[in-house]
Amino acid sequence: MADPKKLFVKTYGCQMNVYDSERMSEALAGEGYVATDTAEDADLILLNTCHIREKAAEKVYSELGRYKELKAARPDLRIGVAGCVAQAEGEEILRRQPLVDLVVGPQSYHRLPDLVGQARGGARAVDTDFPEEDKFARMGSRPKAARGPTAFLTVQEGCDKFCAFCVVPYTRGAEMSRPVAQVMSEARDLVERGVREITLLGQNVNAYHGAGPGGDWSLARLIRGLAEIDGLERIRFTTSHPNDMDDDLIAAHGDCDKLMPYLHLPVQAGSDRILKRMNRNHTADSYLRVIERLRAARPDLHLSGDFIVGFPEETEADFQATLDLIAAVEYGSAFSFKYSTRPGTPAAERDQVPEDVKAERLQRLQALLSRQQRALQDAMVGREVGVLFEKPGRMPGQMVGKSDYLHAVHVADAQGTVAPGDLRRVRITASGPNSLTGALV
Ligand code: SAH
Ligand code: SF4
Ligand code: F3S
Repeated sequence: MADPKKLFVKTYGCQMNVYDSERMSEALAGEGYVATDTAEDADLILLNTCHIREKAAEKVYSELGRYKELKAARPDLRIGVAGCVAQAEGEEILRRQPLVDLVVGPQSYHRLPDLVGQARGGARAVDTDFPEEDKFARMGSRPKAARGPTAFLTVQEGCDKFCAFCVVPYTRGAEMSRPVAQVMSEARDLVERGVREITLLGQNVNAYHGAGPGGDWSLARLIRGLAEIDGLERIRFTTSHPNDMDDDLIAAHGDCDKLMPYLHLPVQAGSDRILKRMNRNHTADSYLRVIERLRAARPDLHLSGDFIVGFPEETEADFQATLDLIAAVEYGSAFSFKYSTRPGTPAAERDQVPEDVKAERLQRLQALLSRQQRALQDAMVGREVGVLFEKPGRMPGQMVGKSDYLHAVHVADAQGTVAPGDLRRVRITASGPNSLTGALV
């Protein structure tokens, strides 16, 4: 038998890209490719890219530039660009970077083995269609290899919301939900392979409406269905839009034990004028009311959010409204970004906020968010939480896992009684800069 070919995948961007990279590797495993973690010995390099901000997109070209010598030394090496930059720029990538042999958009991954075949034959292959067929059905089931205790599972893809700053509706296409039966069988398969926690993914995951027994199922119904799988201990989902938080999903946070008390619910800004200019279709107040209802259902819920500072026309007063909203919510974690102009989006054409103003606002916003995060994390000391252990820690005799609220938790386990995949009760004893320490109960 010939030596197996080696595949190096580098993943940028969101969790959906992490999931997609796994699926692409699995699809190429069927073609005899085994994973390697260095570009140097690879026969095929795949960059799974992100287009969300300018910096993210530029990283791709600088990474490709580094492969020049590799390719000169090994003419058989093939280089592919997948993901959202591939979708947004398509053939332009081939023009700009002669090293690239294939370009494949996120909706065409089931065609990857074929495209790689073409590239091996010397062609430069491009596929950025939004095909009619279901890529998930065509990619077949995941192989049975054992895996770690946590996994992502994409249930919904694409977005119809068209926020004025965002490229996702263009790179991922229209909203679509995977059928319930497909999701359930993939989840069962993951659990058989050792997975204890599944994070359901979608660009707008709470807009999920997959075909199922008796009609379309909502995300809440899907979560309740998944909760019946024995051996699946924890369910999370991300990312949600405030307008799609329906009554049943809010209720599920109170009555579904396996649904973890952590919710990522981006708001982007706290000024109604800016929210309107962003085409968010909600106000600061309607967002706060959703959170009030969520906290009524699950008082200890940890909230996480995304924020953009320096959106076109944002004044100091608008920015202050964002700080006020943050003060009102108290986030357990958050992601914040300077607005980045994206070609083809409506906001790119508007009056821009100067770079130094954006930088200064981001600093103030992040200072407030880190104070909140740290205060909530410190408040965990003395409490007992569930921890799903994932791997040994950096110190000998130590295990690391994630709390119900998604904090990293370190526990001393000199006797080695804890294994990856164990879900145990832990009493939190100390709070550090990025993680908690605790003792097994
Ligand atoms: N679908 C998710 C998030 C998609 S992108 C949602 O709707 O919440 C992840 C985050 O990137 C967004 O929430 C937003 O905060 C940020 N983002 C998107 N476009 C951006 C841009 N042009 N500039 C800066 N940040 C951006
Ligand atoms: Fe982008 Fe808005 Fe859709 Fe989220 S909801 S993916 S921010 S357009
Ligand atoms: Fe980036 Fe595409 Fe995800 S633009 S954030 S990789 S959906």
